[in-house]
Amino acid sequence: MARKFFVGGNWKCNGTTEEVKKIVTTLNEAEVPSHDVVEVVVSPPFVFLTLVKSLLRSDFHVAAQNCWVRKGGAFTGEVSAEMLVNLGIPWVIIGHSERRALLNESNEFVGDKVAYALSQGLKVIACIGETLEQRESGSTMAVVAAQTKAIADKVTNWDNVVLAYEPVWAIGTGKVATPAQAQEVHCELRKWLNQNVGADIAASVRIIYGGSVNGANCEELAGQPDVDGFLVGGASLKPEFVDIIKSAT
Ligand code: G3H
Repeated sequence: MARKFFVGGNWKCNGTTEEVKKIVTTLNEAEVPSHDVVEVVVSPPFVFLTLVKSLLRSDFHVAAQNCWVRKGGAFTGEVSAEMLVNLGIPWVIIGHSERRALLNESNEFVGDKVAYALSQGLKVIACIGETLEQRESGSTMAVVAAQTKAIADKVTNWDNVVLAYEPVWAIGTGKVATPAQAQEVHCELRKWLNQNVGADIAASVRIIYGGSVNGANCEELAGQPDVDGFLVGGASLKPEFVDIIKSAT
């Protein structure tokens, strides 16, 4: 089965109402390949989700940047998967390295979150990736395999999962992984899925790359056989996000 190219824009903790409207206008006016060719999902902060959903063109979709690990209740400051479903938000990003590092989200916690979000009908962009120290010590594959295993331990149906490989050292640093580095990890991850989860899932799950993707480096990365798209941070706030979407073709 062909894997449809996927481009996610993670706006992180950025934007005012006016800035958000401006980004949406740019996206709405952009001429990009059709939805048959590329799936585009943008992820504003929680407070702008409904605004963006209401203004955004219908062939693009929205994602939350996080959700609570189980059913809502007395969890001050959290947003539940049920709430996202209630608002008609189809996607959620889970396990971003900023949350893993700053909020101590463990592999197991991320696995539980992915499973719970899927059980409520959300689609999940699940993030994994090694730190610079881990890469330099030669443990990249062990780290991403452990992160993926914690998800695989809790998830049986991968239809609604996109795996985002985001090396921590490349996030927001301007130091993008080379196409060969990205391809190597994506290919190894697919092999890991093949051996540990199943051949069909390994062949069909989209593995996207994130970490300093921009309008200038996206085409070469997109040309790698196991790179099925991108999760874009900084550049998703700029007009060059449109060029990144166009790299799908
Ligand atoms: O979720 C997106 C990643 O953290 C990449 O961010 O494109 O600003 O490096 P970046």
